Amino acid sequence: MVEKGQVKGVDGPADSNYNLINQLGKGPKYSMHMPGHCGNNEVTPILNQFLKEYGGNAIEGTTDEVFGTLGNYFPPSGIMKKSLDQAAELYGTKCTYYGINGSTGNLISATRCLGGNKQVALLQRNTHRSVAHGFRISGARLRFSYPDYDEEHTLFKPLTLDQIKAEVEQNCDITVVVVTTPTYEGLTADVPAIAAYCKLKGLRLLIDGAHGSIFPFHDQMPHTGIGIDGVDIVVQSLHKAAGAFSQASVIHLNKTSSIDRTQLETALFITASTSPSNLLLASIEEVIVRNFSKEGKDMISKVIGFATQAKDTIRKLPGYQLWEFPGIPQDPTKVCFDYTGPNGKKLTGEQIRNYFREHFSVDPEEYTPTSVLFSFHIGTTEATLANFLAAAQTLHTETEEKLLFKCRTLCEDIRPHAFHKNNSPLQTPVYAVDLQECFQLKVKSYPAWAIKQSLESDPYDKQLWVSAQIISPCPPGCIVVDIGEKIKLWHFKFLDPQQELLVFEVN
Ligand SMILES: Cc1ncc(COP(=O)(O)O)c(C=O)c1O
Repeated sequence: MVEKGQVKGVDGPADSNYNLINQLGKGPKYSMHMPGHCGNNEVTPILNQFLKEYGGNAIEGTTDEVFGTLGNYFPPSGIMKKSLDQAAELYGTKCTYYGINGSTGNLISATRCLGGNKQVALLQRNTHRSVAHGFRISGARLRFSYPDYDEEHTLFKPLTLDQIKAEVEQNCDITVVVVTTPTYEGLTADVPAIAAYCKLKGLRLLIDGAHGSIFPFHDQMPHTGIGIDGVDIVVQSLHKAAGAFSQASVIHLNKTSSIDRTQLETALFITASTSPSNLLLASIEEVIVRNFSKEGKDMISKVIGFATQAKDTIRKLPGYQLWEFPGIPQDPTKVCFDYTGPNGKKLTGEQIRNYFREHFSVDPEEYTPTSVLFSFHIGTTEATLANFLAAAQTLHTETEEKLLFKCRTLCEDIRPHAFHKNNSPLQTPVYAVDLQECFQLKVKSYPAWAIKQSLESDPYDKQLWVSAQIISPCPPGCIVVDIGEKIKLWHFKFLDPQQELLVFEVN
């Protein structure tokens, strides 16, 4: 077995992908962010055993000789078909398919089934870009609904039934609704109520459950949309929370879905690789089978227990404010908080993150200007919990001087939160060029401040600046300016004046 940080003979350019392998083990030791396996071999023991046995020869282990009898990925046949049928049985769906291009790929396939030039899709404004782009490519028109933006916590709340109703009642042309649930922070929408409403109104419903892939496996988890009448399609990223390799995803049709299995298969067939990675497929299969088994459930119960212990500890420590949202069911594995020091000064999320990382090697899922988010993933170990607790307890006992020293920006990660994270109120995008046409146009680059100046000097809105790029923070993926969108003055609230913007030559 290759030890972390000890790959010998790898001697490529410092910034090459394979040289990154040499960096393994040099970062923080206790991962509390995606991918959900967190490097813990126990999450997929069979796959781990396979990789161990093939040792240094993993490449040979993935040849046709080993997997030659797998059958077709699309349309599924042989072992592959059996595996998919088993997954559908376990999830209780009409059918479940594996995706090896993340939820991005599966969401685009979903929009092929639900879109088309006669369709109008209601998307939440902070929808993942794959949803918006999938519908735009299909020729569907977009309408937007605005989930509440919580200024204090700098996050979007889940879309509500009332927000959907308000749009549908105003725009009777809407034919399909898309809801992201859970949010990145684990807050969930009222899927049963939304589904009942959509069914009543004859609207199709797609659930982007990218962050909820662990939910189906445990009864302490909130709704996913699977098994709920009125929900047509559910997409989940198995790599984010369920423990599979990066890129692993599933797409489900509910038993009552208005979409046929053959329709979905055709949509998937168009972009499915004809040479899928067997390692990815095996990882997806093992995660599903294992997480539905007693061992898998026990592992998830343990992690929920860890998160509960962490929250109980934090609640008792002075200075901490745990973020809880009464009335909104939350993924029990997410722990989000802010911290105010003894001098009454609030630390930024980045300062808290630096303290946990630099002094306890604990790496959080995400931080914002005001908070930090830790995920207790399926791969989280006792050692991670112990270090998390030690960090939380000592942060509280540090003197102010030491604390400021310890929390200073030690890691150079200059994400422009000011421009990206606080991204509300975003206004409704105006598309000046169809996505299909964009790719024929020439592109030029200008500094953002120059475009802003030009728009300021044009009170009659005669100039047309059309974005040739997608600017969206990652995560959670809210598009600030989209490809083909008319650039307006309000965009500059979220853009760095010094950044170069790509625009199409449309005049
Ligand atoms: C809400 C949401 N949907 C979809 C995706 C795409 O998932 P993937 O990274 O598996 O392609 C993401 C990714 O972060 C996401 O946050």
